[in-house]
Amino acid sequence: PPSSQLVIVANRLPVDRVELPDGSPGWRRSPGGLVSALDPVMRRNDGVWIGWPGGTEQDLEPFEDDGLKLVPVSLSADEVEEFYEGLSNATLWPIYHDVIAKPEFHREWWDSYVTVNRRFAEKAVQVAEEGATVWVHDYQLQLVPAMLREMRPDLRIGFYLHIPFPPAELFAQLPWRRQILEGLLGADLVGFQMAGGAQNFVRLVRQRVGHKTHRDLVYLPDGRTVRAAAFPISIDTEGYEALAREESVLDRAEEIRSAVGSPRKVFLGVDRLDYTKGIHARLRAFAELIQDGEIDVDDAVFVQVATPSRERVEQYRILREEIERLVGHVNGDLGRIGRPAIHYLHSSYPREEMAALYRAADIMVVTPYRDGMNLVAKEYVACRYDDDGALVLSEFAGAADELRQAWLVNPYDINGVKAALLDAYHASEKDAARRMKAMRKTVRKHDVSAWATRFLDGLSDVSPHEKSPR
Ligand code: G6P
Repeated sequence: PPSSQLVIVANRLPVDRVELPDGSPGWRRSPGGLVSALDPVMRRNDGVWIGWPGGTEQDLEPFEDDGLKLVPVSLSADEVEEFYEGLSNATLWPIYHDVIAKPEFHREWWDSYVTVNRRFAEKAVQVAEEGATVWVHDYQLQLVPAMLREMRPDLRIGFYLHIPFPPAELFAQLPWRRQILEGLLGADLVGFQMAGGAQNFVRLVRQRVGHKTHRDLVYLPDGRTVRAAAFPISIDTEGYEALAREESVLDRAEEIRSAVGSPRKVFLGVDRLDYTKGIHARLRAFAELIQDGEIDVDDAVFVQVATPSRERVEQYRILREEIERLVGHVNGDLGRIGRPAIHYLHSSYPREEMAALYRAADIMVVTPYRDGMNLVAKEYVACRYDDDGALVLSEFAGAADELRQAWLVNPYDINGVKAALLDAYHASEKDAARRMKAMRKTVRKHDVSAWATRFLDGLSDVSPHEKSPR
């Protein structure tokens, strides 16, 4: 296998398995933000990325894709069910997102989580050079830091959680709460989206593990310290803006607008089809505005892109049924021929199409019940280089901390969402421009490369080892 001074460990590889034109299996770069975030850091440091390629193919060899060194970790069909769909997405995901769905607890799932975390840790140990930096990502791999520490005390270990870290009362439901806290404490630096997450973590470590803490530091009995701090993630702002300026994207945006019946105003939602995203709340609010006579289907339309996600997990199936039933009702009751109230797309699209949709949208509607950050909100802002367009944003998305000038809403308060949608719909050009300008400034200053640099600098500061990769 390859070896490196910088090892990224994440559940997903930055590429997806695809079928090439000749029918043979190949790889395609995944569209996610993390990939573009870490791409420059990976190249500067000749890094290695360890992750699951999706599926159940066994014995995949390390390979290179577009100059990036990738090491696949295989999962069996049982492990996909127990580690990925089970413990990661039917236990931890709901607990970490305010218990919006009911979490399930199964001891076999936990055993699988431990086994798979160990497999990731062992791969990392094989490729990490003496004194290397290993950066572990997200809730699927919370045991990896301590496993690494035990096998390789020479490593500098960072962990970053991309989703919220829950309040102590919710985290305490986990039968394996102590193991998870101890797993994370294997890192030198534990990063969170928000200061609140870091505080929840430190408090839990004090209460449940009994370590001494002071502000953002945890003091371990062996003399080591662990720092817990907020590093709000972002997007490749410049890249998105450049994409949004491309002629083909602008043409496509025009095409979309005329297809939905320009000059109808376009409301847009873009989400993984997930119960945390508040898709129901926003569609209901929009439908009621039509019912109330505040909005006419001749004047406005809602486009909802719902990317298929975790489709074998029961809660996700139930959600899909619910959303599709709602869309059917709304269009059946309120639409006219050639004038559906909602365009619903259960599909995933490349970045170019997303940028065209963002350009075509007058009002972007992001209403999660709980969200670590929400990059869609930032992507929309990055694409509005004319300072037009409106963002309606949930206060329960991490992004609301930075995008203060959005129309902020509580997604549980349907009347409040309705009022905000209407306000954004009727906003004066001047008001909209003032808000968008301020938000664009924020997103340009805090882009994803600033995020990665801040985390790696922070990691080199707490660690007893020498300088961090840049
Ligand atoms: C969230 C998580 C990521 C995850 C992504 C897609 O953003 O923080 O860790 O990769 O959702 O979900 P999936 O289950 O398809 O990897």
